[in-house]
Amino acid sequence: MRLDKYLSDMGVGTRSESKKFIKAGRITVNGAITTDAAMHVSKEDDVCFDESPISYEEHIYYLMNKPQGVITATKDNSKKTILDLIKPEDRRKELFPVGRLDKDTEGLLLITNNGALAHHLLSPKHHVEKTYYAEVSGIVTKEDIDVFASGMEIDRGDICLPAKLKVLSTTSNSNNGTEISQVEITISEGKYHQIKRMCLCRGHEVLFLKRLSMGPLKLDKSLDPGLYRPLTSSEILDLLNC
Ligand code: URA
Repeated sequence: MRLDKYLSDMGVGTRSESKKFIKAGRITVNGAITTDAAMHVSKEDDVCFDESPISYEEHIYYLMNKPQGVITATKDNSKKTILDLIKPEDRRKELFPVGRLDKDTEGLLLITNNGALAHHLLSPKHHVEKTYYAEVSGIVTKEDIDVFASGMEIDRGDICLPAKLKVLSTTSNSNNGTEISQVEITISEGKYHQIKRMCLCRGHEVLFLKRLSMGPLKLDKSLDPGLYRPLTSSEILDLLNC
């Protein structure tokens, strides 16, 4: 590919900024300064910008702990998006979130430029499991668990695949009479507001929601909300093979 495209694909700058860097003699290819933006380079070439190596990676993958208050979109005129949380030096053209979390949901979000992988993970055919931690109003019962497991109807004709509902703990406040259940829910599809709608059908309002895993990928507990890191090679392999 052309040298200016290589640099802009790797986020060194826009195509025209990259051309300026090349003209200014700030780029070397295999140790020699080049001022030719049209020069053909490949992944095997040693390309440097101000002496720092710029290796070519076609696909990139970030594991983010999405914070509340940020929307799962690539662009918005007024609201903060998950891409606004990516540092300029980590930004690449065509990055997008795999699937959607509501504005008030936090937790695991995969951000990548690998469209084929995203398609695989989101395809209704593949039933990739997603597990959430939720705090819901009321006491979750054995009947709720059975209804989740049998595949519940959340709207007329809109039937969910069987889901796992596990109660972690329940708390009752005798002063104000409120009861809250802490649960883990695993679904294998991605309908709009699915967890909230499933819980509401059973009379439980979701008060807090956090995604813990998607397929083989688990939320990294060392990432505070708003932080992200690149996936490790074994996480990438697991995702590509799931
Ligand atoms: N289900 C929901 O209701 N909200 C989310 O953000 C994710 C799953």
